Amino acid sequence: MGLLKDAYQDYFKMGNIYTPKDPGTKKGEAIARHFDIITPENIMKPALMQPKKEEYLFDLADGMFEFAKAKHLEVAGHTLVWHQQSLKWLEDHASTREEAIAFMKKHMETVMGRYKGQIAAWDVVNEAIKDDIRTDTSNWREHLRESKWLRLIGDDYIKIAFELAHEIDQEAVLYYNDYNLNYSNKAEATYYMVKELREAGVPIHGIGMQGHYHTNTPLSTVENSIQLFSKIPGIKLSFTELDITVTGSEKNEELTEEQSILQAQKYAGFFQLFKSHSRLIERVTFWGFDDASSWRGDRFPNLWNHDLSPKHSFEAVMDPEGFLAKYPPAAPTGPKQAVAGFNAWGEAFEASLQTTAWEGATATAMAKYNDGALTLKVDVHANQVHANDYVTVYLDLLGNKSETYGADDFHFTVTSENIVEFHGQSLDGLKTSTQMTGSGYEVQLEIPLSQVEKGQVIGLELQVKDCDPDGFTQSVAKWNDASGDSYKTTANFGEIILG
Ligand code: XIL
Repeated sequence: MGLLKDAYQDYFKMGNIYTPKDPGTKKGEAIARHFDIITPENIMKPALMQPKKEEYLFDLADGMFEFAKAKHLEVAGHTLVWHQQSLKWLEDHASTREEAIAFMKKHMETVMGRYKGQIAAWDVVNEAIKDDIRTDTSNWREHLRESKWLRLIGDDYIKIAFELAHEIDQEAVLYYNDYNLNYSNKAEATYYMVKELREAGVPIHGIGMQGHYHTNTPLSTVENSIQLFSKIPGIKLSFTELDITVTGSEKNEELTEEQSILQAQKYAGFFQLFKSHSRLIERVTFWGFDDASSWRGDRFPNLWNHDLSPKHSFEAVMDPEGFLAKYPPAAPTGPKQAVAGFNAWGEAFEASLQTTAWEGATATAMAKYNDGALTLKVDVHANQVHANDYVTVYLDLLGNKSETYGADDFHFTVTSENIVEFHGQSLDGLKTSTQMTGSGYEVQLEIPLSQVEKGQVIGLELQVKDCDPDGFTQSVAKWNDASGDSYKTTANFGEIILG
């Protein structure tokens, strides 16, 4: 069995995460053998480095640097400015722009300063761009996540963070890091932000695509973003948190052989893609070693089993071409379909394809046709319902899968409190209602539709957006279209068949 870092030595650095439990264990030894570089999974996040105002905890990070030194590993720093796992201090005590900047500076000087020279690259700003962008992506300032940093400092907090980082450590490679950067809208907003800031001389050296993918993630979406980012002169790219969950495996105790091969084929495809762009890619870091210790362990995202035996996915990353020759991928299947009965509910279908790094609410839907309307019942399963949780409906009434939206195509959201918002043209005669249920909320929609025939196909995509307790988007679950492009093309929607 070869080593991952050897298999990729001519292409890019290979990385994995570190936790304080690793030193002295079989897993820790395996990480040190297979990889060139480690990222602390949690211990260098703001809330863990500085749990209370000006009370820093260095022991765990110091321990990691000892481990790294002993094993000749490089370290990637994660992370300095973020909205999660961050300091209560900021929200409790900083009330002005000046206070917030002073706080950011102190934190960065203390943490970056202490480990200067030992950290090859830093994720300076993490996850600053919103999901669900629908309007002009070049106005990137409008698409910044409404974090405490943004609220207190203003949209130049990103520029300030990178300038401070560069002042403190001129040698470190400075990254902007985010998830879902394979979605064209989020990728474009990121592209415009990084391009503009770099043109203005702000020291952003790289874009970190976290890479929390799943077995339905189309490779083309990732390739499109690589190509887009490559248009920024001099930019570096890294995949900083790669893991690929197996869609539909959360109830399994073990992966089936079929699921395991499917995941491995996806990993093989990704590494072929990464190799073909290795000129731009500095590093590929996996977000976990074995499935059992993964933050998304219920969906088996990593290369090793919980007993540390290698999975097919390991074999596939070691030798993508060989693996795909041995296990050629099946031809792609068509879109998901569901029937809308005439005067009777068709079979239930699930909007449960989790497409964001963080997972949340899903929905079970049913459709029926009567009295000149298509009725959809969407039963959202959510742990907690927030006022701005919503269901997004994308409709292609002629079922013609047009590349761009036409007169028969509609896009709107319905919140848990039945507030309807259209994006683009409105749909006359649409009726909606919502109600709370024991396990979340339900949305009913009546979509006017006359002169229908048995067997007629209507394009439909459903998405369920769930917020975290602070009201930020936490997750988006979908029915069929994993591309992230439902807002601009109807080509990948699922299909409702009347009959
Ligand atoms: C995750 C860790 O893996 C978990 O242990 C922790 O509970 C939550 O954070 N984006 C990031 C990472 O930048 O820091 C997150 O890591 C995963 C999503």
